[in-house]
Amino acid sequence: MAMFKRAKDIKVGVIGYGGAFNMGRKHLAEMKAAGMSPAAVCELDPERLKVATEDYPGIKTYSTVASMLKQSDLDLITIITPHNTHAKLALQCLKAGKSVCCEKPLAITTAECDAMIAEAKKQKVVLTTYHNRHWDGCILEAVDRIKRKKAIGKVYKVTAHMGGHNRPRDWWRTSKTISGGVTYDWGVHLLEYSLQILDGGISEVSGFSHSGFWKTPWKDDTIEDEGSLIARFDDGAWLSLTITSIDTRTRPYIIEFTGTKGTYLMGMNDFTIITNEDGVESTIKGANREGQQEKFYKNLAQHMVKDADLVITGEWSRRPIHILDLGNKSAQSGKTMKAKYK
Ligand SMILES: NC(=O)c1ccc[n+]([C@@H]2O[C@H](COP(=O)([O-])OP(=O)(O)OC[C@H]3O[C@@H](n4cnc5c(N)ncnc54)[C@H](O)[C@@H]3O)[C@@H](O)[C@H]2O)c1
Repeated sequence: MAMFKRAKDIKVGVIGYGGAFNMGRKHLAEMKAAGMSPAAVCELDPERLKVATEDYPGIKTYSTVASMLKQSDLDLITIITPHNTHAKLALQCLKAGKSVCCEKPLAITTAECDAMIAEAKKQKVVLTTYHNRHWDGCILEAVDRIKRKKAIGKVYKVTAHMGGHNRPRDWWRTSKTISGGVTYDWGVHLLEYSLQILDGGISEVSGFSHSGFWKTPWKDDTIEDEGSLIARFDDGAWLSLTITSIDTRTRPYIIEFTGTKGTYLMGMNDFTIITNEDGVESTIKGANREGQQEKFYKNLAQHMVKDADLVITGEWSRRPIHILDLGNKSAQSGKTMKAKYK
């Protein structure tokens, strides 16, 4: 879908310029570094709009998405808002003929992802998700060693775990309705990492959760204390994911990939590989390589200018959401859910 002569011709804007992690500033800086032209910021909070104009003097600011769509001529809009707003805002932008980059998670349900993917196809525009962590050093290292160098044989089991015994913070992420649940923040990153290693298609998901230990101002709408799921793949592999705020045993690694010839323990900064050959166990430890998160917007710009393959397609970013959505539905119903998409 090459639509532009040069990356500079792609006028970009963001919706959401929040203060929790200054993500609006980060997105515009990375878009600029990829050669695109930052042109507009839309934000509900006037104080944050002020920050945007300090960061990017001369940038156009808007307090509603409708006014930004009407008054600006943006080509690409990145959505950096709470999770339950992603689908609605993305559809609004897509229907106005804009390409959309949505922060992770692409949406909360598979059905929302389907509607977004269908609208982008209809409008012949791009839909992608900001899976910047696709290029984190930990997963670049793991992909190289597990997929290319076959360090642990065939991977048949993935165990992803994050969290500890911590009271949830007082922010929107603690609302089940707004965030989607405890698994929707870091869980989507851990699944996106894992899906880079697993070859099989998703076949079914069982979900489990524990709620009610932590009392928060969100009352009954508080996220689960812990959310867990087990996904089965059509090549026989399985994956378990746990995101917790009530498990006192913190793990030194976020993902354990188990293969027929060894185990790969993936930490954010380092890795350990334990292999066993003819009864002889050996261990290799090392530091992960540097991350290359800047590749996200470079790839998107090259896709829009040179028709390069888009790494994070709508369909790719629907996969982790499909697993989370089925896990959520399974935890609520107590039944295993069959996958609609591989
Ligand atoms: N990829 C990553 O590494 C990473 C890191 C942090 C956050 N995130 C994601 O970024 C998104 C935002 O998280 P955050 O921590 O920046 O949240 P935040 O609360 O700091 O910012 C969200 C902002 O969106 C604004 N907003 C909400 N609805 C709006 C609307 N309709 N129009 C305009 N502005 C609106 C709010 O006023 C707020 O300032 C989430 O999807 C989160 O998961 C991703």
